[in-house]
Amino acid sequence: MLLHEGHAQAMRFFTNINADSYDLISRLATFGQDIAWKHEIIRAVRGRSHILELACGTGILSSMLAERGKSVAGIDLTFEYLLILKRKLKMPIAQGTAEVLPYRDESFDAMVSSYLAKYVDVQKVIDECWRVLRPGGIVVFHDFTYPSGLICNLWHIYFELLRLAGRFVTSWKVVFRQLDDVIKKSDWVDQTIYALKNRKFQNVNCRCYTARTSTIVSAEKP
Ligand SMILES: C[S@@+](CC[C@H](N)C(=O)[O-])C[C@H]1O[C@@H](n2cnc3c(N)ncnc32)[C@H](O)[C@@H]1O
Repeated sequence: MLLHEGHAQAMRFFTNINADSYDLISRLATFGQDIAWKHEIIRAVRGRSHILELACGTGILSSMLAERGKSVAGIDLTFEYLLILKRKLKMPIAQGTAEVLPYRDESFDAMVSSYLAKYVDVQKVIDECWRVLRPGGIVVFHDFTYPSGLICNLWHIYFELLRLAGRFVTSWKVVFRQLDDVIKKSDWVDQTIYALKNRKFQNVNCRCYTARTSTIVSAEKP
Protein backbone atom coordinates (compact mmCIF):
# COMPACT_ATOMS: atom_id res chain seq x y z
CA MET A 1 0.00 0.00 0.00
CA LEU A 2 1.65 3.25 -1.15
CA LEU A 3 0.53 6.23 0.92
CA HIS A 4 3.42 8.58 0.27
CA GLU A 5 6.24 9.12 -2.25
CA GLY A 6 8.65 8.32 0.60
CA HIS A 7 7.29 4.74 0.63
CA ALA A 8 8.34 4.23 -2.99
CA GLN A 9 11.78 5.63 -2.13
CA ALA A 10 12.11 3.36 0.92
CA MET A 11 11.03 0.34 -1.15
CA ARG A 12 13.72 1.12 -3.73
CA PHE A 13 16.36 1.46 -1.03
CA PHE A 14 15.60 -1.39 1.39
CA THR A 15 15.18 -4.78 -0.26
CA ASN A 16 16.01 -8.45 -0.04
CA ILE A 17 19.36 -7.81 -1.77
CA ASN A 18 20.76 -5.60 1.00
CA ALA A 19 18.99 -6.79 4.19
CA ASP A 20 21.83 -9.18 5.11
CA SER A 21 24.52 -6.50 4.90
CA TYR A 22 22.54 -3.62 6.46
CA ASP A 23 24.08 -3.82 9.95
CA LEU A 24 27.64 -3.80 8.64
CA ILE A 25 27.03 -1.05 6.09
CA SER A 26 25.26 1.24 8.57
CA ARG A 27 28.22 0.93 10.95
CA LEU A 28 30.91 1.40 8.29
CA ALA A 29 29.19 4.14 6.31
CA THR A 30 28.64 6.28 9.43
CA PHE A 31 32.14 5.57 10.83
CA GLY A 32 30.51 4.03 13.92
CA GLN A 33 28.43 7.14 14.60
CA ASP A 34 25.19 5.20 14.08
CA ILE A 35 25.70 3.44 17.41
CA ALA A 36 26.62 6.72 19.16
CA TRP A 37 23.41 8.35 17.86
CA LYS A 38 21.37 5.34 18.99
CA HIS A 39 22.89 5.71 22.48
CA GLU A 40 21.47 9.26 22.52
CA ILE A 41 18.02 7.90 21.64
CA ILE A 42 18.32 5.39 24.49
CA ARG A 43 19.32 8.19 26.85
CA ALA A 44 16.17 10.10 25.84
CA VAL A 45 13.88 7.18 26.80
CA ARG A 46 15.51 6.59 30.19
CA GLY A 47 12.90 5.57 32.78
CA ARG A 48 10.41 4.35 30.14
CA SER A 49 9.83 0.61 29.96
CA HIS A 50 7.40 -0.24 27.14
CA ILE A 51 8.80 1.02 23.84
CA LEU A 52 7.71 0.87 20.19
CA GLU A 53 10.39 1.25 17.54
CA LEU A 54 9.01 2.65 14.30
CA ALA A 55 10.98 1.45 11.24
CA CYS A 56 12.82 -1.07 13.41
CA GLY A 57 14.54 -2.56 10.35
CA THR A 58 16.99 -5.32 11.28
CA GLY A 59 16.60 -4.50 14.98
CA ILE A 60 19.86 -2.71 15.85
CA LEU A 61 18.18 -0.19 18.17
CA SER A 62 15.58 -2.68 19.41
CA SER A 63 18.40 -5.06 20.45
CA MET A 64 20.17 -2.27 22.32
CA LEU A 65 16.92 -1.39 24.13
CA ALA A 66 16.15 -5.04 24.93
CA GLU A 67 19.69 -5.48 26.35
CA ARG A 68 18.80 -2.70 28.80
CA GLY A 69 15.72 -4.57 30.01
CA LYS A 70 13.14 -2.64 27.98
CA SER A 71 10.07 -4.34 26.59
CA VAL A 72 10.24 -3.54 22.87
CA ALA A 73 7.89 -3.93 19.90
CA GLY A 74 8.65 -2.94 16.34
CA ILE A 75 7.05 -2.13 13.01
CA ASP A 76 8.71 -1.82 9.60
CA LEU A 77 7.75 -1.62 5.95
CA THR A 78 10.33 -4.14 4.69
CA PHE A 79 9.66 -7.84 5.20
CA GLU A 80 13.27 -8.93 4.52
CA TYR A 81 14.62 -6.54 7.18
CA LEU A 82 12.15 -7.94 9.72
CA LEU A 83 13.36 -11.46 8.88
CA ILE A 84 16.89 -10.44 9.93
CA LEU A 85 15.51 -8.96 13.17
CA LYS A 86 13.64 -12.21 13.90
CA ARG A 87 16.90 -14.15 13.70
CA LYS A 88 18.45 -11.96 16.42
CA LEU A 89 15.64 -11.10 18.76
CA LYS A 90 12.34 -12.39 20.13
CA MET A 91 9.93 -9.45 20.20
CA PRO A 92 6.50 -8.57 18.77
CA ILE A 93 6.88 -7.20 15.24
CA ALA A 94 4.50 -6.03 12.52
CA GLN A 95 5.00 -5.29 8.85
CA GLY A 96 3.38 -2.01 7.86
CA THR A 97 3.75 1.73 7.70
CA ALA A 98 4.39 3.98 10.68
CA GLU A 99 1.56 6.22 9.44
CA VAL A 100 -1.11 3.62 10.29
CA LEU A 101 -0.21 1.77 13.47
CA PRO A 102 -1.83 -1.57 14.38
CA TYR A 103 -1.75 -0.86 18.13
CA ARG A 104 -4.35 0.14 20.70
CA ASP A 105 -4.64 3.68 22.05
CA GLU A 106 -2.23 4.53 24.87
CA SER A 107 -0.23 1.28 24.69
CA PHE A 108 3.42 2.51 24.87
CA ASP A 109 5.54 4.70 27.20
CA ALA A 110 7.91 5.70 24.40
CA MET A 111 8.13 5.58 20.59
CA VAL A 112 11.48 5.87 18.85
CA SER A 113 12.67 5.93 15.26
CA SER A 114 16.00 6.13 13.51
CA TYR A 115 16.17 7.05 9.78
CA LEU A 116 12.38 7.01 9.25
CA ALA A 117 11.34 10.67 9.22
CA LYS A 118 12.54 11.51 5.69
CA TYR A 119 10.39 8.74 4.16
CA VAL A 120 7.01 9.52 5.73
CA ASP A 121 4.15 11.95 6.06
CA VAL A 122 5.40 13.28 9.39
CA GLN A 123 2.05 14.73 10.49
CA LYS A 124 0.35 11.33 10.04
CA VAL A 125 3.07 9.57 12.04
CA ILE A 126 2.83 12.12 14.83
CA ASP A 127 -0.99 11.83 14.92
CA GLU A 128 -0.53 8.07 15.37
CA CYS A 129 2.14 8.59 18.04
CA TRP A 130 -0.27 10.81 19.95
CA ARG A 131 -2.96 8.11 19.81
CA VAL A 132 -0.70 5.17 20.74
CA LEU A 133 1.38 6.91 23.45
CA ARG A 134 0.32 6.91 27.09
CA PRO A 135 0.02 10.31 28.82
CA GLY A 136 3.53 11.29 29.96
CA GLY A 137 5.06 9.23 27.12
CA ILE A 138 7.88 10.43 24.87
CA VAL A 139 8.51 10.33 21.09
CA VAL A 140 12.04 10.43 19.71
CA PHE A 141 12.82 10.93 16.01
CA HIS A 142 16.34 10.60 14.67
CA ASP A 143 17.57 11.01 11.11
CA PHE A 144 20.31 12.49 8.93
CA THR A 145 20.33 16.22 8.23
CA TYR A 146 21.97 18.18 5.44
CA PRO A 147 24.93 20.11 6.86
CA SER A 148 26.14 23.60 5.96
CA GLY A 149 29.50 25.38 5.45
CA LEU A 150 32.77 23.46 5.24
CA ILE A 151 31.14 20.24 6.41
CA CYS A 152 28.84 20.46 3.40
CA ASN A 153 31.88 20.29 1.09
CA LEU A 154 33.22 17.27 2.96
CA TRP A 155 29.76 15.71 2.78
CA HIS A 156 29.74 16.00 -1.03
CA ILE A 157 33.21 14.46 -1.30
CA TYR A 158 32.09 11.64 0.98
CA PHE A 159 29.02 10.88 -1.15
CA GLU A 160 31.15 10.92 -4.33
CA LEU A 161 33.29 8.23 -2.67
CA LEU A 162 30.16 6.30 -1.70
CA ARG A 163 28.93 6.46 -5.31
CA LEU A 164 32.26 5.01 -6.37
CA ALA A 165 31.94 2.27 -3.73
CA GLY A 166 28.47 1.48 -5.11
CA ARG A 167 30.11 0.24 -8.34
CA PHE A 168 31.61 -2.60 -6.32
CA VAL A 169 29.01 -3.09 -3.57
CA THR A 170 26.16 -3.41 -6.04
CA SER A 171 23.46 -4.28 -3.48
CA TRP A 172 23.90 -0.73 -2.11
CA LYS A 173 24.38 1.04 -5.44
CA VAL A 174 20.95 2.74 -5.51
CA VAL A 175 21.23 3.93 -1.89
CA PHE A 176 24.79 5.23 -2.31
CA ARG A 177 23.74 7.09 -5.44
CA GLN A 178 20.54 8.70 -4.17
CA LEU A 179 20.70 9.03 -0.37
CA ASP A 180 22.39 12.45 -0.33
CA ASP A 181 19.67 13.87 -2.57
CA VAL A 182 16.90 12.43 -0.37
CA ILE A 183 18.53 13.98 2.73
CA LYS A 184 19.08 17.32 0.99
CA LYS A 185 15.44 17.55 -0.13
CA SER A 186 13.98 16.55 3.23
CA ASP A 187 12.94 19.19 5.76
CA TRP A 188 11.92 16.56 8.30
CA VAL A 189 13.22 18.53 11.32
CA ASP A 190 11.03 21.59 10.67
CA GLN A 191 8.08 19.41 9.69
CA THR A 192 8.44 17.30 12.83
CA ILE A 193 8.70 20.27 15.19
CA TYR A 194 5.69 21.88 13.51
CA ALA A 195 3.62 18.68 13.64
CA LEU A 196 4.53 18.01 17.30
CA LYS A 197 3.52 21.51 18.37
CA ASN A 198 0.40 21.32 16.22
CA ARG A 199 -0.57 18.11 18.08
CA LYS A 200 0.08 19.84 21.43
CA PHE A 201 3.12 17.74 22.39
CA GLN A 202 5.19 19.46 25.09
CA ASN A 203 8.90 19.93 25.84
CA VAL A 204 9.80 19.76 22.15
CA ASN A 205 13.57 19.38 22.02
CA CYS A 206 15.95 19.38 19.05
CA ARG A 207 19.66 18.42 19.19
CA CYS A 208 22.22 18.14 16.39
CA TYR A 209 25.13 15.70 16.38
CA THR A 210 28.34 15.03 14.43
CA ALA A 211 28.75 18.43 12.76
CA ARG A 212 24.97 18.74 12.25
CA THR A 213 24.80 15.68 9.97
CA SER A 214 22.35 14.01 12.33
CA THR A 215 19.50 15.36 14.46
CA ILE A 216 17.28 14.05 17.23
CA VAL A 217 13.89 15.64 17.93
CA SER A 218 11.94 14.55 21.00
CA ALA A 219 8.73 15.61 22.73
CA GLU A 220 6.37 14.48 25.47
CA LYS A 221 2.64 13.83 25.49
CA PRO A 222 1.18 15.71 28.45
C1 LIG B 1 17.93 2.99 7.08
S1 LIG B 1 16.81 1.76 7.62
C2 LIG B 1 16.87 2.02 9.39
C3 LIG B 1 16.51 0.80 10.17
C4 LIG B 1 16.62 1.01 11.68
N1 LIG B 1 15.74 2.06 12.14
C5 LIG B 1 18.04 1.33 12.08
O1 LIG B 1 18.29 2.45 12.56
O2 LIG B 1 18.91 0.48 11.92
C6 LIG B 1 15.26 2.53 7.24
C7 LIG B 1 14.10 1.63 7.58
O3 LIG B 1 12.90 2.40 7.48
C8 LIG B 1 11.89 1.53 7.04
N2 LIG B 1 10.77 2.36 6.58
C9 LIG B 1 10.79 3.28 5.60
N3 LIG B 1 9.58 3.85 5.48
C10 LIG B 1 8.78 3.28 6.42
C11 LIG B 1 7.43 3.45 6.81
N4 LIG B 1 6.63 4.30 6.19
N5 LIG B 1 6.95 2.72 7.84
C12 LIG B 1 7.75 1.83 8.49
N6 LIG B 1 9.03 1.61 8.14
C13 LIG B 1 9.55 2.32 7.13
C14 LIG B 1 12.59 0.71 5.97
O4 LIG B 1 11.87 -0.46 5.67
C15 LIG B 1 13.94 0.45 6.63
O5 LIG B 1 13.92 -0.74 7.37
